[in-house]
Amino acid sequence: MTTTQLLSLTGVSKEFPGVKALNNVHFDLNKGEVHAIVGENGAGKSTLMKILSGIYKKDTGNIVYQGNNVNVSSPNEAQKLGISIIHQELNLMPDLTVAQNIFIGREDRRKGRVFLDDSKLNKAAKDLLAELELVLDPKQKVGELTIAKQQMVEIAKAVSYRGEVIIMDEPTSSLTPAETDALFKIIRTLKAAGKGVVYISHRLEELNKITDRITVLRDGEYVKTLNTPETSIPEVISLMVGREVNQDQRPEVRPLSNEVVLRVEGISDLNLLRDVSFDLRKGEILGFAGLMGAGRTELARSLIGADPKTAGKIYLNGKEVKIKSPSDAVKVGIGYLSEDRKKYGLLLIQNITFNVILSSIPAFSNRLGFLKTKPAGSIVRDAIKQLSIRTPSENQYVKNLSGGNQQKVVIAKWLTRDCNILIFDEPTRGIDVGAKDEIYRLLTKLASEGKSIIMISSELPEILRMSDRIAVMCEGKLTGIIDNKDADQNKIMQYATKFRD
Ligand SMILES: Nc1ncnc2c1ncn2[C@@H]1O[C@H](COP(=O)(O)OP(=O)(O)OP(=O)(O)O)[C@@H](O)[C@H]1O
Ligand SMILES: [Mg+2]
Repeated sequence: MTTTQLLSLTGVSKEFPGVKALNNVHFDLNKGEVHAIVGENGAGKSTLMKILSGIYKKDTGNIVYQGNNVNVSSPNEAQKLGISIIHQELNLMPDLTVAQNIFIGREDRRKGRVFLDDSKLNKAAKDLLAELELVLDPKQKVGELTIAKQQMVEIAKAVSYRGEVIIMDEPTSSLTPAETDALFKIIRTLKAAGKGVVYISHRLEELNKITDRITVLRDGEYVKTLNTPETSIPEVISLMVGREVNQDQRPEVRPLSNEVVLRVEGISDLNLLRDVSFDLRKGEILGFAGLMGAGRTELARSLIGADPKTAGKIYLNGKEVKIKSPSDAVKVGIGYLSEDRKKYGLLLIQNITFNVILSSIPAFSNRLGFLKTKPAGSIVRDAIKQLSIRTPSENQYVKNLSGGNQQKVVIAKWLTRDCNILIFDEPTRGIDVGAKDEIYRLLTKLASEGKSIIMISSELPEILRMSDRIAVMCEGKLTGIIDNKDADQNKIMQYATKFRD
């Protein structure tokens, strides 16, 4: 062991019923190092980190921390040792404030009872947030924050323990480029202070910017550890998926139908949206690009009646329709795949079958309202195969699936339902490169079968690869619609920032 080694895991195995999540995996971390773990959805990254942070017990294996054998038997013990984790699925209390969430469990205790000294908490949170240069109000309720801001709260919370090891499980999946840069700054500060950072991400282009080494896992097995300066993204990808994946494609040029299936005219809402109009054609993929907060999700939500419109009309195949609620939207054949799977997309304590067909219960229930599980089961098994959802069976609880596989369940849910218009909000967030490819193929297939797709995405390469036309929003307004052949990242960014200085 060198003196700079902070941590080493060897021979770690972990089995869940029907799933060998980890098989004889090893991993080590040095002081002042950022060490990435990459791998496809379900490869075992989060499981390994949950073992290290005391959430799961390992079946076999050794953990040496600061030169000593340790047995991290609980999250509490991990914290005492100085190991903290930012979870992939955010773990905050929506009804508590930012400050309360950061310091949860560590409030002042006086006179034998829990006593929350809010002014002290708020002050401590304010100082910490200032130190990390995060713009957050300590007193705001976390449930009112965007996912990106919640992510920031998680980051602040993990740093507040002042430990030696900080594990970040996909911290940037919902962050904008600017927010990501702010996080990288924090990581560099931690690194300079001699801390060790474990960094999990599906955004492989980040690895070059921030990591020193990269460990690749595949199907629960250790594949290889690479020195970042000596490797390349294509090498990492081929180790991850065992094949080459072409990341930079443009869509095959398909003749665009003139048939307008959806016409949106002058939609405004209470807060952000101002007079948004566009049309969507049969078999078209219409990409929606823009910076975070441009109003794309708000537009989708007001289209499907989840949020009230203050003005505007919606026409389906030329006829005006009134959509007052998401169930109205589904009735007229518009499905919305939410960006926040935990809040709107899935019931985590139900199994895959339930989640996938829940959204189309009338089609699968008999007259008494009971689920006819048999045909449903085979449809769900098909979807599992089509989307390569990694699970022992369709009866697995969704909470037991890896993050990316949960996202695929949300997609499966909408695919089994017969909607002619599908709105996908960040469909590949948290999804590995190989599976992204499958999802792209699937969306293209749906479009070629005549479905019309609105795809909201913050990833410009994805927008350029998938969209027939690209609608760009900025501050609640639609600033342009560009044909794919005329579009590039620069042009999109110009429209996306048109109303900014
Ligand atoms: N509590 C659990 N019960 C049953 N199976 C589980 C549990 N936790 C994880 N698994 C399974 O272990 C495997 C590894 O999951 P893990 O969450 O570690 O993947 P991951 O590499 O983090 O993937 P992702 O990129 O999608 O987050 C998956 O097949 C998952 O379904
Ligand atoms: Mg994970």
